[in-house]
Amino acid sequence: MSSLSLKERAVGWLSARMKSRVPYSDSNRYLEGIYAPVSEERTETKLTITGDLPRELNGLYARIGPNPMHVSNPGAYHWFTGDGMVHGLRLENGQAAWYRNRWIGTDSVRRHQNLPKVPGPRRGVVDAVNTNVFGHGGRIWASVEAGALPVELDGELGTVKHGLFDSTALRAFTAHPRIDPVTGEAHAICYDALKPNRISHVVVDARCQVTKVVEVPVKHGPMIHDCAITRSQVIILDLPVTFSVKHVFQGAGLPYGWNDRHQARVGLLPRDGAAKDVRWIPVDPCYVFHTCNAYDLDDGGVMLDVVVHARMFDRSRIGPEADGTRITFERWHIDPARGAVKRTVISEQNQEFPRCNETLNTRPYRYAYTVGFSNAEQARGLFRHDLHTGTTLTHDHGAGRSTGEAVFVPRQGGTAEDDGWLMAYVHDANTQRSDLVVVNAQDLTGPPQAIVHLPVRVPAGFHGNWIPDSH
Ligand SMILES: [Fe+2]
Repeated sequence: MSSLSLKERAVGWLSARMKSRVPYSDSNRYLEGIYAPVSEERTETKLTITGDLPRELNGLYARIGPNPMHVSNPGAYHWFTGDGMVHGLRLENGQAAWYRNRWIGTDSVRRHQNLPKVPGPRRGVVDAVNTNVFGHGGRIWASVEAGALPVELDGELGTVKHGLFDSTALRAFTAHPRIDPVTGEAHAICYDALKPNRISHVVVDARCQVTKVVEVPVKHGPMIHDCAITRSQVIILDLPVTFSVKHVFQGAGLPYGWNDRHQARVGLLPRDGAAKDVRWIPVDPCYVFHTCNAYDLDDGGVMLDVVVHARMFDRSRIGPEADGTRITFERWHIDPARGAVKRTVISEQNQEFPRCNETLNTRPYRYAYTVGFSNAEQARGLFRHDLHTGTTLTHDHGAGRSTGEAVFVPRQGGTAEDDGWLMAYVHDANTQRSDLVVVNAQDLTGPPQAIVHLPVRVPAGFHGNWIPDSH
């Protein structure tokens, strides 16, 4: 017997009915060009390398993104909803051992593959997991926001199980847990599309046990994609993109839209606090997908670095607003004593995917790395922002080449903050193939440290991480 509630069945039925009323269109930019899904799972072991791949990089680089297996009405497809596919590259002793791409083992994917269901519970009518893949507790996890449970992957990217880590709780999670490098705890701000009046702070310890759940009341069902942590606080971004019945009725594949009636605010929740302890501070209406880092200040406030979109999901029904929306990289001084957020622009250029040396999460840091783009089809620049001097260096991947998110991998034993490498898949429209490009963070404008050439293309996607063998 299905475990779906009547409400979930109703929402699923309504969504299917609304989609069926959208005029058919075979065109959608998120199914074409650099976004076009690949049609098969591959295992490649004969990989060539240009440059010098550091021998100390032993582990797995994994990145996930949407790769829909079947799309019945391309015109109504939303980029955020496609079946998840993980692209992994295993590095060992200066060599690339293999590349694999594997769909996440959701029920629909396994049915199409004529394979048995993956063990573990499910919740909701949508179980696509497509947004982040990361190591935690010595294991590999992929996750998504809004409802579906995370999945555990094995070292060759097979789906092991569905579930909220080692908990039996059937709770929504997030794409962006923030891991404290000191305690090893993962902190998450989670929302459930079917429960618009509350969000939750969930803590998963380094043994994959859920150790804390605090529910916090909110209005309108805000989409909260990311959070940030300091040593003392969890930062909640309650911004005006909310659950939208109007979008559902208009056939949007994602039922979220810009909401002028929603008060934009930032919440400071003590990491060991309860819902009543949240201090809410208003902020100008805007939207933030991603934070870079945050830390406590001596004045009782918090410093938070974020990529800010002036608006989001306002006109577009198939993905993020693609043009004309101002995007800035900003430093927010959140001051609960004054009840204000002071915003300072770090960089005016279009960019996303902020990352840093995450061994410095929750602490002051100097370097932020982002992906710069001129339009939605090409992101050829990798930025290194020096937050002390206010200067930016750019690694230009070249014409026709488009980089995904770059993860910073610290050199083992290194002491300088920027002693390490930036690692990302780069899609080459000239060859219709992709590379793993490794850039020395201390020589950002120089030639890459190494390039692993793949015989396949890796479509533009979402988030990736380096998962060292020692994690
Ligand atoms: Fe994200």
